[in-house]
Amino acid sequence: MLKLPGLIDPHVHLRTPGQEYKEDFISGTKAAIAGGFTTILDMPNNAVPITTLELLKQKQETAKKAILCDVGFHFGSLGQNFEEFTKVQNGVTGIKIYLNQTTGGFIVDTTAFRKICERWPVGLPILVHAEADVIAEVIEIGHQTMQNIHICHISSQKELETVIQAKQNGYKVTCGVTPHHLFLTEEATQRLGSIAMMKPTLKPQADVDFLWNHLQDIDIIESDHAPHSLEEKQNDKPPFGVPGLETTLALLLTAVKENKLTIQDITRLCHDGPAKIFNITEDKQTYIEVDENEVWTVDAAQLFTKAKSSPWNGITLTGKVKQVYIRGTKVFENNQFLVEPGFGQIIKNII
Ligand code: NCD
Ligand code: ZN
Repeated sequence: MLKLPGLIDPHVHLRTPGQEYKEDFISGTKAAIAGGFTTILDMPNNAVPITTLELLKQKQETAKKAILCDVGFHFGSLGQNFEEFTKVQNGVTGIKIYLNQTTGGFIVDTTAFRKICERWPVGLPILVHAEADVIAEVIEIGHQTMQNIHICHISSQKELETVIQAKQNGYKVTCGVTPHHLFLTEEATQRLGSIAMMKPTLKPQADVDFLWNHLQDIDIIESDHAPHSLEEKQNDKPPFGVPGLETTLALLLTAVKENKLTIQDITRLCHDGPAKIFNITEDKQTYIEVDENEVWTVDAAQLFTKAKSSPWNGITLTGKVKQVYIRGTKVFENNQFLVEPGFGQIIKNII
C-alpha cells in the first residue's frame, strides 16, 4: 500500500445550487473521496453565479449539511460586484475570472479584468480561464496590480512558454494542467465526440508532449471536474466539460508505472502545490492509502459522479484508492463511505 497525503483539487464544479441534476455536494464529494481527494475547491459558475456575499453564504449553508470531504469556494465576478470583494475575502479561496468563452457564458474583457485586479484583496489568488494570447495580457495586468495570478488549465506549448517567461521575469504567476490535457489529444474528440469536448479544447500531440517535457514548470494538476448529464452530452448542442475526480490519480499512477513521472511529482502537483497556492493546511491525519498495483477498468456508469460519462470509459488503469482518512477518521474503504453527509468541513467558513 502506498500512503499519500489527502489530495487537493482546486478546480471542481459541484453545480449546486441550481444544477443538482449534473452534480450535487453529496455526489461530488463522494467522487472526490473515491478518487483520493480530501479537499476540493468549488467554482462559482453556477446557474446563478456566486458574485455576492449573500449567495456565498447560501452556498456554504447548503454545503455544510451535505459535504463528505472538505470544500472551499472560489468567488466570481462579471466586473460589477466590487463592493462585495472585502465582504467575502474571509470566506473564499480565490476569485475565478473567465476571459474566454466556456459553459455558462460568464465572460469579462481585459478592461473589466484590470478593474477586478485593482480592487480584489491583494494576495488572495485570482484564477483565470484565459487561453492563447490573452494569457500574456492577463499576466501583465496581474503583475501591474501586484496580484497572484493562477492560469488555469494551460493546454498548449505557447501558453506554457508564456508562463515560463513570466516566471523567469519574477512575476507572481502559477499555472495548472488538467489530466485531459496531459492524457488525451485532439484525436479523442474526433473519436468520442462530445464525451471528450471541453474548454480549453484538446490539443495536438506536439503540445501534449511539450507539457510532459516541462512538468517541472507546472505548479499543480487541476481536474476541472465539469460534470454534465449523459443526456445533455448526447444532445445536438452538448455542453463543454468532462468529469475528472475519479480518474485523475489512477491516470497519474499508471503514468508512474510507465516512468513518465514519479510519486513525488504526484505529491507536488496534487497536494503541496495546491496547498501552497490556495493556503490550505490539511491535518496530518488526513491521508489516503492506495494499491499501486490494482488494475481496474473505468466504467463511467459506476462512477460516483452524476456525469455517467468519461473520456476514459473502458480504459484499464493501474492504481486504486483503498482507504481514505480525514482528521484520523476512516471515511472510505472498499468503495463504501463510512461517514454521513456533513462530515466534511468548509474551508474559510463564514456562516
Ligand atoms: C466548465 C463547466 O462545465 O462548468 N466547462 C469546461 O469545459 N471546462 C466551465 C469551465 O470552467 O471552463
Ligand atoms: Zn472549470
